[in-house]
Amino acid sequence: MKFNKAIVTSGPTREWIDPVRYISNASSGKMGYHIVNELQKWIPNTVYIYGNVLEKYKEYQGLKKQVETTLEMLNAILEELQDNTLIIMAAAPADFRPQDYVENKIKKTSEENYSLNLVQNPDILATVSQEVINRNYKSVHKIGFAAETNNLDENAREKIMKKGLDYIIANYVGREKGFGEAESSVKIISTDGIQIQIENQSKEEISIQIVNFLRLKFDS
Ligand code: CTP
Repeated sequence: MKFNKAIVTSGPTREWIDPVRYISNASSGKMGYHIVNELQKWIPNTVYIYGNVLEKYKEYQGLKKQVETTLEMLNAILEELQDNTLIIMAAAPADFRPQDYVENKIKKTSEENYSLNLVQNPDILATVSQEVINRNYKSVHKIGFAAETNNLDENAREKIMKKGLDYIIANYVGREKGFGEAESSVKIISTDGIQIQIENQSKEEISIQIVNFLRLKFDS
């Protein structure tokens, strides 16, 4: 199968609370950065869409777009989406955003507690699946990541179904592992079960193996 295009997303999104505070997560953008640079060797027309990644993870010799929020990431993907596209969602989009943005910095009060009303962001992969149906595209393939702190295989397989994925790349995350520089172990899972396991490798090596795996599966 020949893809005309690929889209790789990377890093965290930010949801602003007031002018100085935001909701985000610990994703650095490292995995997406290595994947996009590896994938371009196979699919030259690969677009890189990233959130607030570290400066060094913005480097890419191809079309790239920086976004801030989850809604912006979704819109950037929908703009780039065509038939015959492979999408690899390595980003960690914020799942919630504040219901209201407060124009001026929120001040402390004498109250002990402060509550923030959050609303759920759309699920990007699930929205893309719906859009593929609406646009009557025949061949869009989606690869997701599952960052879990527990029940890895079970949660990952559930996400394959819910988000309409071909494969999910599953790993454990926590304060010491998964995000950032650390070595990592991942499993590539499909609805048929575990396809391959990659143990204790750098994210660069993992990315090479992920792209090799996909190339083998889709090219044959
Ligand atoms: N993802 C997405 N849209 C979101 C959140 C996540 O498309 N709003 C994608 C991620 O890029 C990843 C996959 O979905 O490829 C799984 O992300 P993860 O954070 O593990 O799952 P969530 O859907 O956020 O589920 P939960 O927080 O319940 O584990």
